Amino acid sequence: MSDMLVVSQLTKRYGTLQALDGVDLVVKRNSFHGLIGPNGSGKSTFLKAIAGAHLPSSGTICFNGQDITDASSYERARLGLSLKFQITAVLDELSVYDNVLLAVQASNSLWSLLLSKTRLTLKDQVMSALDRFQLADRADELAGVLSHGEQQWLEIAMALAIGPKLLLLDEPTAGMSPEERRITGELLRPIKEECSLLIVEHDLDFIREISDEITLLDQGKVLDTGTVEQIQNSTKAQQAYTTRV
Ligand SMILES: Nc1ncnc2c1ncn2[C@@H]1O[C@H](COP(=O)(O)OP(=O)(O)OP(=O)(O)O)[C@@H](O)[C@H]1O
Ligand SMILES: [Mg+2]
Repeated sequence: MSDMLVVSQLTKRYGTLQALDGVDLVVKRNSFHGLIGPNGSGKSTFLKAIAGAHLPSSGTICFNGQDITDASSYERARLGLSLKFQITAVLDELSVYDNVLLAVQASNSLWSLLLSKTRLTLKDQVMSALDRFQLADRADELAGVLSHGEQQWLEIAMALAIGPKLLLLDEPTAGMSPEERRITGELLRPIKEECSLLIVEHDLDFIREISDEITLLDQGKVLDTGTVEQIQNSTKAQQAYTTRV
């Protein structure tokens, strides 16, 4: 089975507001899927529903062949879902190393930490995650001294350190310089060998570069979905962006 995530008819209401309105979306295994759309179109709501931070009003979410529509966010993480939210959430007063260590520990049960994981294997797990995001030599520094871009990389490293099957990223390059964006793309590319990615971004050049497929949301509905080339040539996509953004 080549589909990692199959979402059918997902609906989310906040009071009377229909934030998601019957969204169908499939993320393939070892594939990068971009989610784009104007402000308020429901992108963050969609990622939160997949991660279990918000329960949908209706619809189904199937992950790696399993129905997770009603699963807790902890259960989803255990099955291999990992999320980096839109707002940066590193702990400034902790070292770069300890931020990743906490993420890894939180994803393990106490029993597995006590019984099977030695501190050394945890250390390997943390250092290899830092290494992939060019932060290994900053491990002992406080996370608060990192630049904004480096903090974003630290958060991606935290999300990846738990070995997810699907990584969800909400605007990971927000506030980055063009050079940091370029590097972010390069750092993300190799993870395709081990997991799928569902990524929200406003930078269309970035999303074009990195994605295999793209879905365009508008007012909680899928306006179009397809390969990068198909979306680039989509008149619906052009209309959504020229009239709304
Ligand atoms: N917790 C909430 N309670 C009520 N309304 C919400 C909540 N979260 C989001 N909304 C509303 O749902 C709609 C979709 O919001 P969402 O944050 O998913 O959009 P988005 O596509 O991520 O936008 P942006 O590009 O600005 O990040 C918006 O109208 C927003 O105001
Ligand atoms: Mg958002």
